[in-house]
Amino acid sequence: MKLINQFLLITFSILILLVSCSAKKRTTLKEAFADKFLIGTAMNSKQINGLDSASIRVIKEQFSAIVPENVMKSEVIQPVEGEFDFSLADQFVKFGEKNNLFITGHTLIWHSQLPGWFCVDAKGNNVSPEILKQRMKTHIYALVGRYKGRVKGWDVVNEAIEDDGSWRKSKFYEILGEDYIRLAFQYAHEADPQAELYYNDYSMALPGKRDAVVKMVNKLQQQGVKIDGIGMQGHMTMDFPSVEEFEKSIIAFSNTGVKVMITEMDISVLPKPGKNVGADVSLNFKYDKELNPYAGSLPDSVATALQNRYADFFRLFLKYKDKISRVTVWGVNDAQSWRNNWPVRGRTDYPLLFDRNNNPKPIVEIIIKEAEEAKK
Ligand code: XIL
Repeated sequence: MKLINQFLLITFSILILLVSCSAKKRTTLKEAFADKFLIGTAMNSKQINGLDSASIRVIKEQFSAIVPENVMKSEVIQPVEGEFDFSLADQFVKFGEKNNLFITGHTLIWHSQLPGWFCVDAKGNNVSPEILKQRMKTHIYALVGRYKGRVKGWDVVNEAIEDDGSWRKSKFYEILGEDYIRLAFQYAHEADPQAELYYNDYSMALPGKRDAVVKMVNKLQQQGVKIDGIGMQGHMTMDFPSVEEFEKSIIAFSNTGVKVMITEMDISVLPKPGKNVGADVSLNFKYDKELNPYAGSLPDSVATALQNRYADFFRLFLKYKDKISRVTVWGVNDAQSWRNNWPVRGRTDYPLLFDRNNNPKPIVEIIIKEAEEAKK
């Protein structure tokens, strides 16, 4: 009898343990969005080289896609002509494969974080169109070719259009005209015919930029260029962009027949120095205490407003889940976000889904619920 009682007690305890364990296991972001769209994050060097184990855990647990925040940019990959450094990029791709994550490469042709030699000769003069074409081809072949079949999609051209819809007068544009865009896509396609190829830009909710991007994509398509997606970076503030204008762009982009993705989402709660919108990385305003009001902590009212804004956008993404293939946030936790240093250095911002201790903010639960509701 005693033995039976003991047996029952042990069985009962095990059952309780099992039930409480399974109750504690929360649905993760990637589970909630599994049948909607990929949910991604950008990875920084410390995550890629394995130093930041706490946020690596969050990546493995919560996300289904990754993109490198910096380590595939041209200044890192080819700092000197003909000298390639793939060390961190290799580790990044390996991490993605090992953890079964959709891997996007970022970015092939961009005027920023571009090594000084790329568009000029030894005297600093612009190179000829022929030489620039050759350099673009060599760079793209080397990078895309190295990860052929492993990196599934590439941000081929980044930020070619200004907010008003005019062409950005980058060196690429100066030397090759708008044709540099077509060439970049062509080279990327030659290097990996299976890879998805994207155009990526910020402030995509602005009507001028929206129209120009649609026009550019249409033209590329008419020229027979393979383009698979349009990336809306999604670096936001509390008042830009409006959900309505963002929605118009999702529709307009999707009407071109390509996939739409939100590629670099973050929402800054900090005051804007000047009227700037978007994400021009070259901006750098002088620090001022007034521009850094939440250095200690975030007041509840602001946290709630931020939460509502995130929820509004995710509701929008879910509404267009058939058109959107991926939503990626630009980093894991608030401490690592570039927004702490852009467009003013040394501030304390709260733009991401996980707090400075890698704990999910309440918004994560809300987004997960929204995704589950959207199933019905
Ligand atoms: C940013 C990174 O987050 C920073 O670490 C870096 O110093 C500058 O670039 N648009 C892009 C991204 O396409 O590559 C930029 O990333 C942010 C704006």
